[in-house]
Amino acid sequence: MKLICVSNEQEVGLEAARLIASVVRIKPKAVLGLATGSTPIGTYAELVRMCAEENLDFSDVRTVNLDEYVGLDGSHPQSYRYFMQKHLFDKVNIDSDNTYVPDGLTEDAEEECALYDELLESFGYADIQLLGIGVNGHIGFNEPADCFTPETHVIKIAESTIDSNQRLFETRDEVPRYAITVGIKGILCAERIVLIATGRKKAEVLKATCLGPVTPQMPASILQLHPDVTIIADEEAFSLVPFFGDDD
Ligand code: GLP
Repeated sequence: MKLICVSNEQEVGLEAARLIASVVRIKPKAVLGLATGSTPIGTYAELVRMCAEENLDFSDVRTVNLDEYVGLDGSHPQSYRYFMQKHLFDKVNIDSDNTYVPDGLTEDAEEECALYDELLESFGYADIQLLGIGVNGHIGFNEPADCFTPETHVIKIAESTIDSNQRLFETRDEVPRYAITVGIKGILCAERIVLIATGRKKAEVLKATCLGPVTPQMPASILQLHPDVTIIADEEAFSLVPFFGDDD
């Protein structure tokens, strides 16, 4: 794992965008594995700026998002499709036919999951996979569990995640209870992985991700087994990792 500690949230976004942009410049038909949540917003803003001001070209890029809430359609402001349109797809020269997000309204979730895995496989998986991390260590919506699930699947969202994501909905009851998420295989098959994190609330899980045992109870810890992972985080998020923090 390569750990990059920067001074603030804005720098996290800039660093992550630089890595993604370098992949797109080397390989114009790159497959980008993308994530949602508050953390990647700065990354997408910087990619939008690079597209407008530095000729970063998305015309041949394909994107595959990690997850979507079950029950929300793409026009719902809290759906991940809506998030991606708002923060990236509507603002760069990407072909919308090349952007993939699981269908949260599917009538056959099992088939949707199988098709999503076929899609990932047909693309040869992501050239670079962007990840955030949940307060319980989840990646995508791979929640803490007794075992890792390799395939794309429907997951019951953990109570701690509902608590955390509630801020984006009017009431806790409105937070969907299920999501479709790419599984651990779909994530680990990416050529390169970039995980971003900011703030003190991510410090414990970042320490466990980097230094703890590899366990499905801390899903992000599986990243220790991937050969090319870069974690970009601010000082607060890295504050419990001994190289950067004042922990002894
Ligand atoms: C959601 C997403 C995750 C994301 C996490 C963290 O639950 N499913 O992919 O990493 O939120 O979000 P935030 O960046 O807002 O802390």
